[in-house]
Amino acid sequence: MNMTIIVTGGAGFIGSNFIFHMLDKYPDYRIICLDCLTYAGNLSTLEPVMDRPNFRFVKESITDREAVYKLFEEEHPDMVVNFAAESHVDRSIKDPFTFAKTNVMGTLSLLQAAKVHWESLPEKYEGKRFYHISTDEVYGALELTNPEGIESPFTTTASSKEHHHAYGSEFFLETTKYNPHSPYSASKASSDHFVRAYHDTYGMPTIVTNCSNNYGPYQFPEKLIPLFINNIRHRKPLPVYGKGENVRDWLYVVDHARAIDLIFHKGNVAETYNIGGFNEWKNIDIIKVVIRTVDRLLGNPEGHSDELITYVTDRAGHDLRYAIDSRKLQKELGWEPSLQFEEGIEKTVRWYLDNQAWMDNITSGEYERYYDDMYKNR
Ligand code: NAD
Ligand code: TYD
Repeated sequence: MNMTIIVTGGAGFIGSNFIFHMLDKYPDYRIICLDCLTYAGNLSTLEPVMDRPNFRFVKESITDREAVYKLFEEEHPDMVVNFAAESHVDRSIKDPFTFAKTNVMGTLSLLQAAKVHWESLPEKYEGKRFYHISTDEVYGALELTNPEGIESPFTTTASSKEHHHAYGSEFFLETTKYNPHSPYSASKASSDHFVRAYHDTYGMPTIVTNCSNNYGPYQFPEKLIPLFINNIRHRKPLPVYGKGENVRDWLYVVDHARAIDLIFHKGNVAETYNIGGFNEWKNIDIIKVVIRTVDRLLGNPEGHSDELITYVTDRAGHDLRYAIDSRKLQKELGWEPSLQFEEGIEKTVRWYLDNQAWMDNITSGEYERYYDDMYKNR
């Protein structure tokens, strides 16, 4: 089956991993990456696929309705997968307006372009999908009622045998009421509501999925795991917010891409699916695993980088615990994460150490010139 898919935000972390997954698995699909290359967009990530005949990169903003509509008219996409967003909570605290503009108005302009284009076709919405990528952070924060962690009541075949904890008895379900706290999660919640409104009002075939924290290759080094790997390599302090007691549920990014692929093909329109691996960790514990792994792979003695841990002022409004219940996706569509957490962290640390040029390109600012350089030379 041939299909044309517009993937927005594909020069970022999850979008690029999704594009690699799709191009490898579906050589007949045409993928158009629409990305305006903010600080978080890194075109050098996409270099390995740039010259594929079934791939096109378009540098435009999802907030530019005319440009987006023009792209729809040129490419006649069957599907849109919307990853494009401002994604970092700390930045949203300093600059909430950019988050409202990109995440809310950007998603709305994309929805409207899709609506106008698809409604102009004889088949209308037949065979079309608007797939919106969201986060578990829209559900708010959970209590940390088991601070020492108990055996998780849920399991997956890839669940870690060593670490399989839950830090509270509640989990986010697809039916959990939205209760966002940060400007980031408020903007994502708002965009999710607009996507659902386009289904309920105009009949657009939409899907929303809410995923837990992702980790893996190509993540911008402002986020916990790549930041800490890079800081350990350069022997810089590791800033732990508050007491390091906050809990996040972590999923390897390729397992997220696999889930999107499955839901995209088999999921029901207008449904929401939660995606997560039942893999809760306190920040401080995850930081210790990262330190241990980096030290071992760099040939440092055990404990060598522990002294870099630096407790700093907590993030404002720091959500205590996220824990997602993804049993619906497991039961209805048979998805399971493929990697245990220890395997995923090992793979991730190795990737950053083996691809230091990718990281150095970002920290030097060189990556921001990549688009101009590449297009000048074509
Ligand atoms: P990222 O910050 O790494 O990448 C975002 C990409 O979007 C960048 O390439 C950027 O250039 C692009 N972009 C930003 N504004 C744009 C605009 N106006 N027009 C076009 N492109 C624009 O983000 P990520 O971590 O890959 O997250 C992708 C999506 O997944 C986001 O919607 C995020 O909310 C969601 N999500 C992320 C996580 C996570 O752990 N990272 C978890 C769940 C959901
Ligand atoms: P982050 O990777 O920013 O993801 P999110 O805020 O979307 O969960 O942060 C993960 C956790 O790590 C979060 O609880 C905040 C914490 N954190 C630190 O303690 N220090 C840091 O330098 C960063 C970036 C995050």
